[in-house]
Amino acid sequence: MPKGRDLLGCGGKAIVLGRVKQAKGAAMVDPKESIRDKNLKARPERSALGLPMPDDFHLHLRQGEAMVLYARREALSFGRALVMPNTLPPIASSESISIYKKQILAALSEGSGFEPLMSFKLLPGMSAEDLRACAEAGAIAGKYYPSGATTNAADGPRSPDEVSEALDAMEESGIVLCIHGEDPEAPSLGREIAFLRQVEGIMTRWPRLKIVLEHLSTAEAAAFVASGPPRLAATLTAHHLLYTIDDMLGGSLNPHIFCKPILKSAADRRALRLAAFSGSPKFFFGSDSAPHPRNRKESASAPGGVYSAPTAIPALAGLFEAEGTLAALPGFLAQFGAAFYGLASPSGYIELLKCDWVVPGEIDGVVPMCAGEKLAWNFA
Ligand code: NCD
Ligand code: ZN
Repeated sequence: MPKGRDLLGCGGKAIVLGRVKQAKGAAMVDPKESIRDKNLKARPERSALGLPMPDDFHLHLRQGEAMVLYARREALSFGRALVMPNTLPPIASSESISIYKKQILAALSEGSGFEPLMSFKLLPGMSAEDLRACAEAGAIAGKYYPSGATTNAADGPRSPDEVSEALDAMEESGIVLCIHGEDPEAPSLGREIAFLRQVEGIMTRWPRLKIVLEHLSTAEAAAFVASGPPRLAATLTAHHLLYTIDDMLGGSLNPHIFCKPILKSAADRRALRLAAFSGSPKFFFGSDSAPHPRNRKESASAPGGVYSAPTAIPALAGLFEAEGTLAALPGFLAQFGAAFYGLASPSGYIELLKCDWVVPGEIDGVVPMCAGEKLAWNFA
């Protein structure tokens, strides 16, 4: 069965992109059969879009009861996700990786087929042995959060020197280094650009280390990654592709799209879009879906993070279609990330239908990305 929600039934004519597995009746939809609601029969025929099962290479699932909701929600849109380790306490040992992975798998509905890919947090003083144990527990990436850069990052390294033994071992064993590339000492809008020098330093000191610069927000960072060697790649989020800083605070303040790194200018967004549309395997999707409950977001001290998991795929389909670049979507969502991490391409497919719907104001106790906005695509 295709994944996704059935929020509105629409008849469909299929467009099939990428290497979609042709399960029974999956990619080509008979419009008559797919209309389940009699009231919709009068509607004009809708287009359907088949996509290979998306991967999400940057996801926050949190802990406890909320994690159950967030994991189930993510599994409706994605086949795999790289789960971030900035929980409290952090995921930073083989034991915590195994326990967290088990908890995530236990949270999923039966037969979801969703696979959590695990990461660990690089903490000052981590040894090569610690690193090898994390790798044995199944981690495919270590996350570098500069101390104080974002949510739950106070314990991160203040310089790469503090995690040099772990980085040596990661280079040796092919574990990917994921970097939150912001210098917390720099002014808030200049933090990403200020950190690029440190990334250069890491690349020089560890010449074989594979690096993903996470959630790019500036034209400079996109150019930096594009001009780097193949072992340097980047994730792009849906919110940095959709919004600018003016959407967040140009009118009234919208804390629900406040995130780290902060949304930037329209010129930056243009550069990020061009990177996503380029078909370069260096740029792939990582949602950075980072839910914070509505009351925390609507408080005097709102934390950064956008809950994009429920809406990222329909919103991206709309963006790529509007820009005439739908052909670039399968590589971005379901090919380049897996190839960079040395994983098999995802199996399975999802199907979207062209069908206007308004995103609810709250999902899972969180205000989701695009809340109240009309989107043109929805899950079949
Ligand atoms: C993330 C979170 O809330 O965990 N917040 C965010 O603004 N993106 C952490 C992160 O990735 O920076
Ligand atoms: Zn994140």
